[in-house]
Amino acid sequence: MTTSRRKLIAGNWKMNGLKASLAEALAVAEALERQPCTERVAICPPATLIAPMAQVLQGSQVQVGGQNCYTQPMGAFTGEISAEMLADAGASLVILAHSERRQFFGETDESAAEKVRAALRAGLEPIVCVGETLDERRAGRTLEIVARQVRGSCPPELRGCVFAVAYEPVWAIGTGLTPTLEEIEQVHGAIRGLLAESLAEAGRTAPILYGGSVKPSNARDILAASEVGGALVGGASLKADDFLGIIRAAA
Ligand code: PGA
Repeated sequence: MTTSRRKLIAGNWKMNGLKASLAEALAVAEALERQPCTERVAICPPATLIAPMAQVLQGSQVQVGGQNCYTQPMGAFTGEISAEMLADAGASLVILAHSERRQFFGETDESAAEKVRAALRAGLEPIVCVGETLDERRAGRTLEIVARQVRGSCPPELRGCVFAVAYEPVWAIGTGLTPTLEEIEQVHGAIRGLLAESLAEAGRTAPILYGGSVKPSNARDILAASEVGGALVGGASLKADDFLGIIRAAA
């Protein structure tokens, strides 16, 4: 099974970026204007930069996304940001259940599924993250863990909707380590099977991104692997040149 959809290259800035960093996003947009690419490109900055980034990137090929949202649309939830607010600020996508959210902020498959529903309610495209820890991989439990996360975090409401799943092995994030291409293909193939089974056409076509130490030097091979529908890029998305190197590698 392959997807005919365009690849999605999404940058996850995590808790990095001040107003001055908008220049990097603008540099990406300008380079793509000079030399357009066929892939979809997005940058997910910290929430404080979503509105100004959406303004800077208006009319460009680069979409803006959030990194998290709360389940409720509004109300007395001090410190939280709703999916509706992200959309209002100019976001069109949102990363959900990133492993750092699962690890440091207690997010679960159940909360992920609720946040997916919130994102859909607000018209945002969710990027649902899954991935095993090093201990889980060493114990031979990768497929079991990823299957549990996909089943639990991707609710039936995704049928008929535009969304993406990102496979990000926790041990590959920010470490410079990556799985072999065979390992990536094995997990992506398993995820495709699960999505197709539970979400029909939407599950057959949703891009499955790979994330974890994607760099310009390894992007071409990873992006050419079977069932890899794009990349979720952390560190290498912070600098326009590196991010563009990855975007160009997808062509
Ligand atoms: P990395 O992060 O590219 O810095 O490894 C990826 C991610 O956490 O999304």
